[in-house]
Amino acid sequence: MKASVIEMFLVLLVTGIYSNKEMAKKSKRPKFTVPQINCDVKAGKIINLEFIAKCPAGCQDPKYHVYGTGIYASYSSVCGAAVHSGVLDNSGGKILVQKVAGQSGYKGSYSNGVQSLSLPRWRESFIVSESQPKKGVTYPSILTYSSPKTPAAEADETTKAYQKPSTPETTAEPVMLMQVLSNLEAEAAHTALTKSSLLAPSASTSPRPQLMGHRSWEMGFVPKEELSTQALEPVSQGDPNCKVDLSFLIDGSSSLGKRRFRIQKQFLADVVQALDIGPAGPLMGVVQYGDNPATQFNLKTHMNSRDLKAAIEKITLRGGLSNAGRAISFVTKNFFSKANGNRSGAPNVAVVLLDGWPTDKVEETARLARESGINIFFITIEAAVENEKQYMLEANFANKAVCRTNGYYSFNVQSWFGLHKTVQPLVKRICDTDRLACSKTCLNSADIGFIIDGSSSVGTSNFRTVLQFVANLSKEFEISDTDTRIGAVQYTYEQRLEFGFDKYHTKADILNAIKSVGYWSGGTSTGAAIHYALEQLFKKSKPNKRKLMILITDGRSYDDVRIAAMAAHQKGVITYAIGVAWAAQDELDIIATHPARNHSFFVDEFDNLYTSVPKIIQNICMEFNSQPRN
Ligand SMILES: *[C@@H]1O[C@H](CO)[C@@H](O)[C@H](O)[C@H]1NC(C)=O
Ligand SMILES: *[C@@H]1O[C@H](CO)[C@@H](O)[C@H](O)[C@H]1NC(C)=O
Ligand SMILES: *[C@@H]1O[C@H](CO)[C@@H](O)[C@H](O)[C@H]1NC(C)=O
Repeated sequence: MKASVIEMFLVLLVTGIYSNKEMAKKSKRPKFTVPQINCDVKAGKIINLEFIAKCPAGCQDPKYHVYGTGIYASYSSVCGAAVHSGVLDNSGGKILVQKVAGQSGYKGSYSNGVQSLSLPRWRESFIVSESQPKKGVTYPSILTYSSPKTPAAEADETTKAYQKPSTPETTAEPVMLMQVLSNLEAEAAHTALTKSSLLAPSASTSPRPQLMGHRSWEMGFVPKEELSTQALEPVSQGDPNCKVDLSFLIDGSSSLGKRRFRIQKQFLADVVQALDIGPAGPLMGVVQYGDNPATQFNLKTHMNSRDLKAAIEKITLRGGLSNAGRAISFVTKNFFSKANGNRSGAPNVAVVLLDGWPTDKVEETARLARESGINIFFITIEAAVENEKQYMLEANFANKAVCRTNGYYSFNVQSWFGLHKTVQPLVKRICDTDRLACSKTCLNSADIGFIIDGSSSVGTSNFRTVLQFVANLSKEFEISDTDTRIGAVQYTYEQRLEFGFDKYHTKADILNAIKSVGYWSGGTSTGAAIHYALEQLFKKSKPNKRKLMILITDGRSYDDVRIAAMAAHQKGVITYAIGVAWAAQDELDIIATHPARNHSFFVDEFDNLYTSVPKIIQNICMEFNSQPRN
């Protein structure tokens, strides 16, 4: 505790000195020149939080994708968003860009000749305004771009602080701190000596070359906290906001040694404590791998944090190589079976802990795991330094293994000593189930509302066909309260909610409910029906669900559909318009989400409705797969 306060102070102090120097350097400020950016530059690529930039002409082109209205997801083209928001026209010019927080949803709209798109959520946003430089703000002349690679993992402050003293400082204050620190270090070294002489020597037949030097300073680190096994806490049902099935793959290779293995177990225990394991929340099993993997316990073995922590404490080091690829393959084939406690409606997550780098390949096995819906996280500890990289079988193995290469699924911890800092961020990401991209598919992640025309022109027999069509579409989706949900509205002049999204949770119930919808018969007010569906159906959709509206009509509406359709599009509801017989193509195209050719379908008679089922499913999935996700 004390040591970390001093480290913190030292880091602050060193940073302080550094920024003073920076300020001195900056006093001769160069004249501000406005940096140029191209139309295709996305805001997320630029690290600066506020900047003025110059856009070229021609950024109105639809190939420069823009997401949102007013506030744009940073995945958007900066200049495209400037045109969309009316700050620029297609002839280019200067703009002021400010980054703002990520939003839980972005609504697409058509504005100033640019069609922007909707996006459920993004990590960062930006706004664009006319370039009126604010007094006292220095705008960068050169923009800083993020590298295409994953940004380096959070530097381990501890290591830095300890490495710092080797640089001689001239100021009086730091010297005093140095002395305190040296004393601490001496103490640590002493502890290391005594502790290591007490502990059994770690296996000397290390299969991988190791830089003992850079590790030796922390050899003595043994977590002091004993794993708490006391039966004090009441048995929990688990955190219901984190219902995941979790497999922890821990590194049991000989080179790890008992001490690091112990740190790994402590980490596991801390994660278990933070997760709040229980039958109504997360469940977790552990697989230890060396040459070969073995299940220590499955999802059902220990169903509360206390028992699980006690079991973790008893795990012993397996030894062998570090065959993480083989372990992932094992987990894909064996771990998430129903017999092992796999629950439907709980996403599968695998966290791979790895000392350094794997001794086999992981890319292919990880791909197979992802394709079976397993969300893979990688935590690598003490990654290969430059002269060790020659021993790695695959460069960038972690990026090749995880769901997305954006850093969300991988942690790179610089020393075992800093591993505990990963507990909270890891738990947060595991539990944010809406962002577990590997297990999200076009078939399990939407709220789908059917808007069914029940007007007199349809007739009883054709109405049955329409219901069959709705059932056939619904059948294609994975239905449960956490996967895709289905709702339905029937309309004539009037509207009625047949069933909402939270009424039925199984496919059988949904199909039954669709079959039981009674034909109403009456006029055709399609605009009013869309308004009604937005209020009565989609308002109750969950925030992170994709919202799909599938409207089926056989004729021209008596009311105007324009405003209703626009409201749907603005609310981020992706609208499909299916017309039969007398339906008007122009009206279908207005109702349908842009581009209309992907969202509007027409068949000349009810008996041909079935032909559009595969096309609609295909388009829903194509659109889903083309959308960027965090
Ligand atoms: C485990 O459950 C998930 C749903 O939570 C499912 O997608 C997956 O197919 C199941 N795995 C096995 C092997 O049954
Ligand atoms: C629904 O599916 C059944 C069985 O595949 C098929 O016979 C029928 O024609 C389909 N009907 C519609 C309207 O899609
Ligand atoms: C629209 O459909 C075309 C092919 O028909 C496809 O190339 C395009 O990607 C689709 N656009 C969207 C947004 O789904």
